[in-house]
Amino acid sequence: MSGNIDNLLHETRRFAPSQSFQASAVATADLYERAADDRPAFWGEQSRELLYWHTPFTTTLNWSNPPFAQWFEDGELNVAYNCLDRHVLAGNGDRIALYWEGEPGDSATYTYAELTAEVKKAATVLLSLGISRGDRVAIYLPMIPEAVISMLAVARIGAIHSVVFGGFSAESLRARIDDAQAKLVITADGGWRKGKVSSLKPAVDDSLTIGGEENPSTVEHVLVVKRGGNDVAWVDGRDLWWHDQIAEAETEHEAQPFPAETPLFILYTSGTTGKPKGILHTSGGYLTQAAFTHKNVFDLHPETDVYWSTADVGWITGHTYVVYGPLANGATQVIYEGTPDSPHTGRWWEIIEKYGVTILYAAPTAIRTFMKLGRHIPDEFDLTSLRLLGSVGEPINPEAWVWYRDVIGGGTTPVVDTWWQTETGGIMISALPGVTTLKPGSAQVALPGIHIEVLDDRGEPVGKNSGGLLVVAEPWPAMLRGIWGDPDRFIETYWSTFDGKYFAGDGARLDRDGDVWLLGRVDDVMNVSGHRLSTAEIESSLVSHPRVAEAAVVGASDETTGQAVVAFVIVRADEGGEVVVTADDPSVDTSALAAELRGHVASQIGAIARPRQVFIVAELPKTRSGKIMRRLLRDVAEGREIGDTTTLADTQVMSIISGTVG
Ligand code: PRX
Repeated sequence: MSGNIDNLLHETRRFAPSQSFQASAVATADLYERAADDRPAFWGEQSRELLYWHTPFTTTLNWSNPPFAQWFEDGELNVAYNCLDRHVLAGNGDRIALYWEGEPGDSATYTYAELTAEVKKAATVLLSLGISRGDRVAIYLPMIPEAVISMLAVARIGAIHSVVFGGFSAESLRARIDDAQAKLVITADGGWRKGKVSSLKPAVDDSLTIGGEENPSTVEHVLVVKRGGNDVAWVDGRDLWWHDQIAEAETEHEAQPFPAETPLFILYTSGTTGKPKGILHTSGGYLTQAAFTHKNVFDLHPETDVYWSTADVGWITGHTYVVYGPLANGATQVIYEGTPDSPHTGRWWEIIEKYGVTILYAAPTAIRTFMKLGRHIPDEFDLTSLRLLGSVGEPINPEAWVWYRDVIGGGTTPVVDTWWQTETGGIMISALPGVTTLKPGSAQVALPGIHIEVLDDRGEPVGKNSGGLLVVAEPWPAMLRGIWGDPDRFIETYWSTFDGKYFAGDGARLDRDGDVWLLGRVDDVMNVSGHRLSTAEIESSLVSHPRVAEAAVVGASDETTGQAVVAFVIVRADEGGEVVVTADDPSVDTSALAAELRGHVASQIGAIARPRQVFIVAELPKTRSGKIMRRLLRDVAEGREIGDTTTLADTQVMSIISGTVG
């Protein structure tokens, strides 16, 4: 890692904002000074300016019981009203809120007035199904307008959504339903992906029967949007078609104000154990930072911009920068159902040309994939409408950054690299276009109102030109308020490494200017294509297979996806049988078994967790206390010379493993 970062730090290209961009830039340099004077007061000012409060707050931050923060606690607002009704009341009802593009090329448009009307109807449907304030609703949908409508309808009535990415398996869905005790699931028959209908409803059906009749779920109803047109099974009394319910719904629904700390959503993310964490976000602080960052980082001019974040609503980016930030700001945006290569590899660029997209927010993995395919593909489309590009989810290497700016941005657009997490709720570290001179590969500086530090193991700030652990040193409005149902894990995971400071789990380095370079996770969390996966979760999936005796998983560097899942497993000769002691035992068909195990993980957790490689080995490298030394396995997976093995219980084991794998 240190070799790579030293090369990166020699990156000398700099891109100052152009005069024309600066002339109309939303964010100005004085924001930093204003925020530094008094951070809570700054956020209070932003919140009053950006949101409508039914009951104005009189206090900004209550940090009397850390790490449990309360922002704007005596204020009351309605999140959906802020994203919808108030824009209509302000005379912007005819502005386009959503340009939806289906993968096969069908499309739909919603103005703010139309979206408001749909959300009102959906809210009354939820009420008629017995959902009330504080209840949890699981949403398992493709990227269709109903995903946005459902989230806002849940928020409108003060209930709590838990969106589960459509790529997760029935088991993963059930674990999330159980943890949150969801009463309702909103799903679709299926959605379009890679040129065909990929079903969703069957996974919901399967998930609700896991464990049989002795293990009933908390779900009372399943609301099903018709999208894919695929046949689906039906449980009378439980399952309801969305279109039937909406057709009969009341059309009027007045949004009630709720206290600022009303829970808004739970979003599950992988941690260092096998059990995903339900990250809890609340209303007023979250929406303030969502709106502030969306406006200032993306330089949003809502009257003229067409914004597109390519993220799925199943991830935090889809929550903050598809639903809440853009809609709170009255933006016009594109949402797209499908994959970037369907029906052809120019699909994204075609969409940008079709809608005149001005701001694009995407992940480095996608950019590197396009780079490999070659510039002749985007060159066929008119991308001159673009004026700002964003990157999120993983470090963007300078080559990809410069390619993004040159080929997609016509050599003129700023590129903002935005660092944040499911837990932070909104962007924390990023350039401000129009203010910052851009440095490819670095996320640069904390946003106004955010206090970031890089600390050494003893908790001392490292200073310029050094590396350490990234922390957030003061509370921020969109910070997670906890882990659903597990306050101890919340404290232990984030607040016990450094007293009173939030430990993000990322390594970082400050360069000689004090700009931040992210170095990746320092815990057992992998980042594959910008998605978080836990080594422990995949290991426990592997050992649940009857042929697996032991498993160790590492995230190995991958040119395209950042990291890739690589598994090392010790297997049994047959189900429940003897452990295979030499990896080249002729009785084991290793390639067939490896393929089976890759499929097993995909079906248990979801396709995103499918290992790139599974190596069948006779031993795993362990310390004398039995801890697996992942660092050494990573060396093998990345084809490097193996590092220091002196702490291994059996120092021979690495030569055996690398002999098998190599
Ligand atoms: O390691 C960091 C990486 O993604 C992790 C957060 O993952 P998740 O909660 O799924 O949220 C992803 C979208 C915000 C972080 O701990 N990460 C995110 N953005 C960046 C990044 N690493 C480097 N540069 C970024 N811009």
